[in-house]
Amino acid sequence: IKGLPEYSQEEVAKHKTPDKGIWMTYKNGVYDVTSFMKAHPGGGKIWLAAGGSLEPFWALYAVHKSDEVFEILEEYRIGNY
Ligand code: HEM
Repeated sequence: IKGLPEYSQEEVAKHKTPDKGIWMTYKNGVYDVTSFMKAHPGGGKIWLAAGGSLEPFWALYAVHKSDEVFEILEEYRIGNY
């Protein structure tokens, strides 16, 4: 998305704790999902993707392949990847 900052994989990987913020990537998006962690309907499994890519996990849990889930994710977008 034009106008949003570009982040490297190294930068994303630094954000995997509540104090630094919890970031995840999906395709070329970077998301700060810190405030979503406790609300995740799938529980604590979401921590596995902290500081990295959602893609391998979402490939395993096809429940995420819906417009509603992508809309939730997009609310947290902070940058490009
Ligand atoms: C379920 C969102 C990351 C595992 C769900 C649901 C939503 C959601 C909305 C409910 C879907 C439905 O019942 O229709 C998200 C978002 C994520 C994320 C926005 C990232 C920001 C992850 C990750 C994992 C995961 C990384 C696994 C490592 C699951 C599982 C369920 C689930 C297992 C199903 C729970 C059940 O059986 O009801 N997620 N998720 N999610 N999520 Fe996630």
